[in-house]
Amino acid sequence: MTTGLRITGSGHYLPGPPIDNHALARVMDTSDEWIRQRTGIESRHFCPEGQGASDLALPAAQRALESAGIAPEDLDYVLFNTMTPDYLFPGSAPVLADRLGCIGVPALDLRAQCAAMIYSFQLANALIASGEAERVLVVGAEAHAGFMPWRDWDILAGERNAAPSPEDRERATRHRALAIIFGDGAGALVLERSPRPGCGILALDVHTDGRFVKKLYIPAGFRTRPFISERTVQEDTWIPSMDGRDVFRQAVTLLPQSVRRVCHKAGVTLEQVDWFIAHQANQRINDAVRERLGVPEHKVPSNIARLGNTSAATIPILVDEMRRDGRLRDGQLVCFLALGAGVHWGSVLMRI
Ligand code: UT7
Repeated sequence: MTTGLRITGSGHYLPGPPIDNHALARVMDTSDEWIRQRTGIESRHFCPEGQGASDLALPAAQRALESAGIAPEDLDYVLFNTMTPDYLFPGSAPVLADRLGCIGVPALDLRAQCAAMIYSFQLANALIASGEAERVLVVGAEAHAGFMPWRDWDILAGERNAAPSPEDRERATRHRALAIIFGDGAGALVLERSPRPGCGILALDVHTDGRFVKKLYIPAGFRTRPFISERTVQEDTWIPSMDGRDVFRQAVTLLPQSVRRVCHKAGVTLEQVDWFIAHQANQRINDAVRERLGVPEHKVPSNIARLGNTSAATIPILVDEMRRDGRLRDGQLVCFLALGAGVHWGSVLMRI
């Protein structure tokens, strides 16, 4: 039994020019070779100073609405996935809803980091199944630039031919494993109830294990008074702390288990799945997950080389690219999978 939830529209937006790995090597000790080999990433985009997640989300959402052929006032709900909100509160969803012109429509931020799209499918499905909503806009948008561990953006961009101070270079290098993987961007999907028989979510597998909060988190927050102070800057607690190896290990262990579980629940085999659309955190993670599942390479699409890890935005951006270039077609069976800080993870099986 499915609720008939369908993806009827999609859009994405990327800020600024692509920033390649050589640019990052201007502000910290790293290399194009290391980054490519360990992550598969070649370039990424960064949100300009003065813009936030909602600025990236707006054009993505407008494109999604246009491709669905609906107007903002047709929406019943807005789910905004981000771990880098415009404001600590009230986040980004009300900002986007205002700018889209959907006044009075419930609009909330979801804080499930890189796994947010899985949670959004679950919530949108529940809203549609309960009759609370017919059309849900789901946006994933990230402005990670705000936590990047360097200040010399002009040196990085090649606009000023100089070297960062030794202290700045040392700080950026200390956080380099984190800094090289993230990129900014936004993706948006319109999810609607469809009368077409057979389409919709066939099964979900969604989890959180809060024992691992500190494997990837921003230490600064409302546990200290005031919540931002000179200490926040001195101790770098505004920069995410990440145990990259452990997060990697969790992803390659938990995601294949989740995919097998969701297929089992729906009574389908891995061979019957047309696409495994995975969160894009590190190409090596997705290669390992694919190998553990024994799935052919062509069924696991990737855009991480061009975009890096755009956290909550990876899945909607990839879905939009695949809808626009014709890879995603009605009737296909798609498995979405993602893991992120929390740790939150899971998978969704959908007949699109
Ligand atoms: O979507 C959000 C969830 N996050 C993730 O999924 C991240 C998962 N983890 C990863 O993708 C990988 O752990 C990273 C890409 C973050 C790091 O790769 P790694 O292969 O786990 O490297 P490592 O952190 O274990 O570091 C290995 C070595 C170290 O040097 P020593 O101590 O062996 O001499 C690091 O200092 O590589 C060094 N290193 C670098 N060298 C050049 C770490 N980052 C860099 C760098 N450039 N950017």
